[in-house]
Amino acid sequence: MKLIFIGPQGSGKGTEAKIISKKLAISHISTGELFRNITGELKEKVNSYINQGELVPDELTIKILKERIIEPDCKNGFILDGFPRNIAQANILDKITKINKVIEITLNDELAIKRISSRLSCKKCGAVFNTITNPPEKENICDKCKGELYRRKDDNPEEIKKRLFIYHKETEPILEKYKDILITINGEQDIEKIAKEILEKIKE
Ligand code: AP5
Ligand code: MG
Repeated sequence: MKLIFIGPQGSGKGTEAKIISKKLAISHISTGELFRNITGELKEKVNSYINQGELVPDELTIKILKERIIEPDCKNGFILDGFPRNIAQANILDKITKINKVIEITLNDELAIKRISSRLSCKKCGAVFNTITNPPEKENICDKCKGELYRRKDDNPEEIKKRLFIYHKETEPILEKYKDILITINGEQDIEKIAKEILEKIKE
């Protein structure tokens, strides 16, 4: 099963992809996570884009994605979380592999900004929490691996607005391309309810 999760910042792509990938025993590939974990000479270049809320150039993004999906853990399938984000990336993906379903998680901008402003991420394992909606048991400590929780550099009001603007302008239009395999889920529900709906609709 090969899935794409698309939605605005804070809609819960990462949160839901972690749950669904476990349930379906497929890999969770977040291009944002791949970029945040990048090391070596590319780190500075990549950070200059992500910290400002801008898209990393397609050439590099596609290269990283192509290398990732051929790894052995992807042989049963994967969830692409945050890829593709524009028409050029979607067209290239078409040539590389066949996607079974595209899950769009909707959320209005006001809620998106609220959720992102209160997100905490784990430095060690990437788990995601929320000081309001999904707090960790111990302040600033990851429930899963006891790692330290931090606030992403791009999770501040100016960058959030820029990321949402780019989402509406460049990413949303690609949904048209996937209209025959598109499943739309209301992201304003609680985390478990959304996961349940995704699983049900995938099986239909
Ligand atoms: P990326 O890491 O993908 O960030 P994003 O797209 O901005 O999306 P987010 O991670 O902010 O939101 P999410 O939907 O995953 O929400 P989450 O589950 O965490 O990309 C970062 C950057 O990398 C990009 O800006 C770009 O620079 C670069 N990049 C990545 N891919 C690229 C590409 N293809 N091309 C070019 N550049 C690329 O949830 C958010 C919060 O809400 C959490 O606190 C969570 O606990 C909470 N929450 C989640 N669901 C619920 C719920 N149902 N109810 C209540 N709270 C909830
Ligand atoms: Mg995410």
